[in-house]
Amino acid sequence: MKKILVTGGAGYIGSHTCIELLNSGYEVVIVDDFTNSVAEPVRRVQELTGKTLSFHEVNLLDKEALDAVFKSEEKIDAVIHFAALKAVGESVEQPLMYYKNNISGSLTLFEVMRDNGVSNIVFSSSATVYGDPEVTPIQEDAAVHATNPYGHTKAMMEQILMDTSHALEWGVILLRYFNPVGAHESGQIGEDPDYPNNLLPFVSQVAAGIREHVTIFGDDYDTVDGTGVRDYIHVVDLARAHVKSIEKLTSKVNGTLIYNIGTGTGYSVKQMVETFRQVSGKEIKTIIGPRRPGDIAECTADATLANNELGWHAEYGLQEMIESAWKWQSTYPNGYRDAK
Ligand code: UD1
Repeated sequence: MKKILVTGGAGYIGSHTCIELLNSGYEVVIVDDFTNSVAEPVRRVQELTGKTLSFHEVNLLDKEALDAVFKSEEKIDAVIHFAALKAVGESVEQPLMYYKNNISGSLTLFEVMRDNGVSNIVFSSSATVYGDPEVTPIQEDAAVHATNPYGHTKAMMEQILMDTSHALEWGVILLRYFNPVGAHESGQIGEDPDYPNNLLPFVSQVAAGIREHVTIFGDDYDTVDGTGVRDYIHVVDLARAHVKSIEKLTSKVNGTLIYNIGTGTGYSVKQMVETFRQVSGKEIKTIIGPRRPGDIAECTADATLANNELGWHAEYGLQEMIESAWKWQSTYPNGYRDAK
């Protein structure tokens, strides 16, 4: 494996993965249309690594343009597919937009891969496919029953890839991420949401004085302190799991491999806020609100398979996750908008 095409490479997880790929000696071709991202991280990825990559501004639904990318880029060895819409609430309100973008976009990509003889792919899936798990930590053979359109698109794409790997002898790795947080240690690359849907970006913005308080969505769950428990994973660890997956595909995978990517340790909302307070030294006001519809009490990963079969281990703990998130937030309070 030498040349890797990364869809959504300008995004949060995509940009961190491009850094790890370039640092590991791979050539990187990004396809992104800036739907939920901007060009600046692509520039910074190259600056930080001292390497150049190839970039194409193409929407995955544009089959002709996508085909032209594969043809112009001679010999793509594998694809890492991040590009997708990812806001759960929005997916409930606009399911057709989610199915069109995530499913049709992926189908177009897979067809173009087939037509150009590319048969290895790492897919960006999510613990969301497990819905409300019966047992935690969750193992990969737990039942898949997503509970919202966003989760359904992830589960459907997993199925499409499983069927395709079977029929066309593709090598497929599905990575089910738990809760990605944190930023690159340089403070130059991080998560840059317009409006944060997830806990940590919200807490960061409150610490930075951009928002007034964090609403804790329920403190009456059956957990350590009543607030929701999640398995937070440093985005750089997550990025490295993709490099390990590409290495695994090099040894010729026939069929589909599925791996949970988490640390195995859960932290509650209150523990996250408290650690953020300590790290940032800022006051972070919290208000207890009602439960958010669709939320579950606890979700943690059993990542033994990824440890054993990919040779991947999470290296960073909570402290490093939050320190890096705060470094990014305090260096660029308005994210990439502060670039110019
Ligand atoms: C969410 C998505 C999940 C997606 C993941 C991506 C939902 C229901 N699930 O997971 O599909 O894959 O993001 O990272 O949206 N919380 C607060 N106050 C806030 C925000 C969150 O108390 O302002 C709590 C939540 O109730 C939860 C925890 O913080 O207990 C983490 O929430 P969040 O960061 O949104 O992630 P998930 O809900 O686990």
